[in-house]
Amino acid sequence: MIFASFRSIGAYYPENILSNFDLEKMVETNDEWIVKRTGIKERRIANEDEDTSDLGYKASLKAIERANIDIKDIDAVICATLSPDYLAMPSTAVIIADKLGISNVMAFDISAACSGFVYLLNIAKSMIESGAKKNILIIGAEKISKIMDYKDRSTCIIFGDGAGASIISATTDKSKSILDVSSFASGGHDELLNTPLDTQKMHMEGGEIFKLAVRSLSNDAKAILERNNKTKEDLDLFIPHQANKRIIDKVGKYIGLKPEQVALSIAKYGNTSAASIPMAVNDMYESEKLKNGDLILLNAFGGGLTWGSGLLYFNG
Ligand code: UT7
Repeated sequence: MIFASFRSIGAYYPENILSNFDLEKMVETNDEWIVKRTGIKERRIANEDEDTSDLGYKASLKAIERANIDIKDIDAVICATLSPDYLAMPSTAVIIADKLGISNVMAFDISAACSGFVYLLNIAKSMIESGAKKNILIIGAEKISKIMDYKDRSTCIIFGDGAGASIISATTDKSKSILDVSSFASGGHDELLNTPLDTQKMHMEGGEIFKLAVRSLSNDAKAILERNNKTKEDLDLFIPHQANKRIIDKVGKYIGLKPEQVALSIAKYGNTSAASIPMAVNDMYESEKLKNGDLILLNAFGGGLTWGSGLLYFNG
């Protein structure tokens, strides 16, 4: 039987730092409020001449190097983003593939907002288990700063730029595989989180989103553990979407996790939408909190509404 394995992780953190103190000079806010309400201290902002595909390309280089895979063995490139280089085409994945020197393979973007990386896991797992593909490069990449209204203090303080990528490969070893991925969507909430075509700036009603996020994330995390006969004690790390530390704390408490089981990178990078989970996985990997063979639970929520979870053995 063929399984899909999470074979490597890579990320790219743009160099420019936008701190809470910098934001104090841009909107009526303060460091104390932001830290208390979100857990964020700073976020990264891409350069003028860096677009989403550049961030995704740099994260992909790391993931490819760490998987120790020949670029010509990659047979699909899929990118999740809500801040693509172009409005609709060409896709960011095609541009990243070209920068990597990959051609003549399937490459496309998906739109699932902050749940994008978990959706990608689901797609890659299905393609690999069906035998259609063997090595898929999945990327979450965001230059959210270009669609941010830096006069809207309730939204601009949480978001940042960055990218994360992973190679998902075929394996016959179930103990190294992605066990399960859930992906859901429920429409009718356009007004809460959207990017209108006229302004091309993100609009978010944070308070409402907050409540819906806690409920969906908590229920889905519990359900995926139960469905796979795993308990909270079996989990080495819970790596949720880094939207707001207060959301993460509430979900962690609902599942009954110990603080050391919960991955937090939000203080340094803020909310990077589709890039936030792979950036957090990379952060755990580079700080040696995530090791080969660890059982991890990913948990995401975003515009749409979309949400989902991934339960997997890290094989990097
Ligand atoms: O990525 C996936 C989807 N997104 C999320 O999951 C984000 C979920 N939402 C959130 O993280 C939070 O709702 C925010 C961090 C965005 C906002 O925090 P909040 O605690 O929900 O604030 P609020 O919008 O309810 O505002 C509370 C108060 C208001 O003042 P009054 O009306 O009580 O006097 C705001 O005007 O805080 C005020 N406020 C601020 N004060 C200082 C709002 N933004 C700021 C600010 N600095 N930046």
